[in-house]
Amino acid sequence: MTRGDWRTPKAPSRPALSQAAWSKILDKREARLAMAQTENQTGSQSQNAGFSGSMAFILAASGSAVGLGNIWKFPYVTGENGGGAFVLFYLMCILALGAPLMFAEIFIGKRGKAGPVDSFKNLGTKAAARAHPVGYIFILTAFVALSVYGVIGGWAVYYTSLALDNGFDGMTPEAASGTFGTLMDDFATMVLFQILFMAAITYVVAKGVSTGIERYTTILMPLFFMMLLGLTAYALTTSGAGMRSVSFMFNPDFTKLTPSAMAEALGHAFFSLSLGVGGMLVYGQYMPSSPSATPITRSVATIVVVDTLVALCAGLLIFSVIFGHGGEAAGGPGLLFMSLPVAFGEMTGGYYVAVLWFALVVVAALTSGISYLEIIVAHADRLGMGRAKAAVSLGVAITSVGFATVWSLGPGKDVIIFAGKNLFDTLDFFAFGVSLPLGGLVIAITVGWAVRREEYRAYLSELGEGTFNKVVFLTKYVTPVLIIMIMAYLIKTS
Ligand code: TRP
Repeated sequence: MTRGDWRTPKAPSRPALSQAAWSKILDKREARLAMAQTENQTGSQSQNAGFSGSMAFILAASGSAVGLGNIWKFPYVTGENGGGAFVLFYLMCILALGAPLMFAEIFIGKRGKAGPVDSFKNLGTKAAARAHPVGYIFILTAFVALSVYGVIGGWAVYYTSLALDNGFDGMTPEAASGTFGTLMDDFATMVLFQILFMAAITYVVAKGVSTGIERYTTILMPLFFMMLLGLTAYALTTSGAGMRSVSFMFNPDFTKLTPSAMAEALGHAFFSLSLGVGGMLVYGQYMPSSPSATPITRSVATIVVVDTLVALCAGLLIFSVIFGHGGEAAGGPGLLFMSLPVAFGEMTGGYYVAVLWFALVVVAALTSGISYLEIIVAHADRLGMGRAKAAVSLGVAITSVGFATVWSLGPGKDVIIFAGKNLFDTLDFFAFGVSLPLGGLVIAITVGWAVRREEYRAYLSELGEGTFNKVVFLTKYVTPVLIIMIMAYLIKTS
């Protein structure tokens, strides 16, 4: 053996280091990296550099995952796709694809520690660094997605104010759809509530990671869980349709599981877990540095379980209320804003249920909106813009772009922008139908193929060897193939 040989051993001949040894090497490297980073940090980055611990990370990341996707979208797509079989398939997607992809995305942030773009450059291989332009797609997608999300968040704020005003009392279905339709055509009101919602998000993000995001999500999320559990229990036991709701959600009828339902379930699994746009990446970068502190595996298990339970509770609650009042499951996007208010207006204690329910929707939307904005602010902050300035200017820019969304829901409804779609549907198609799967694909390929296996292993050290191999297999082969399949399907059918 020549000297050169032992100095630069080829990867396969590298002696198999134990997990502990790898973790140590990586911990040291992290420490050096952290020191190097501190040296060229701007002032705003060095204050509030990260979450205080595992609990803060888990609550913030659950706050990102739990959002309108769980409470508004999941119940209505379940309703449209016939219930049980869709739910079962969705759960499979979450387990087989969602969880491994979340490992990968958080790994990129925790290891790379440099925002949605530059983190890819710190993964230890040139091949991984080549993926960094996808970070700009994350930023663009987050921008567009938040401009839409902020509008819907605004509806939730508006409905909370209606609920407080006892506005649902004795409401007929016609009056409910009238109220919603009037809101869609009322540019000023929609913009006003959108601004309120966006201002709250901007404020929190401007405050920083530990003194803003952590502080507020650790108050809001526990509050959210308590309200949701209380309301679900109340609805299941008092609506008279609890059992019917349970059987609708869990009794599978596989004839209803069409290809389009499957594509929808898969896409929704990504969306609900905030994957494919850098949300988890950016929060991952605020985790404590060393691979063994705040283990990725345990955090992901908690986030995935919480996100799924919230979606299931929301479904059970909504369907028991709707069925209890003679409504239909397939109410579509109007389920939350049109069917529920009617039921609330009829039920005993409906006033309080309605107020709590819409407040809960607002809280869920806020903590997700915060995470969207943070994706962009994390990058702007790295460019030396300063967090507060970045948050405020981006908040204003995103809100203004959202005005166009508002316009396209009312007066601009019939103005076709792209392939027979109006602006709202076009944005929806690109942000959710194309960008999220594409982002997920790049993340899976980068971590599956371009990152050194031992390195990834060190960050998932809690997994047994066999489980780790399965995760890598899913990440390398199964996830990319399935993502390509849904993208092809979505593009063909859109
Ligand atoms: N998961 C969120 C929800 O269920 C929405 C979402 C998707 C999101 N991607 C994100 C939120 C990225 C923040 C960051 O509503």
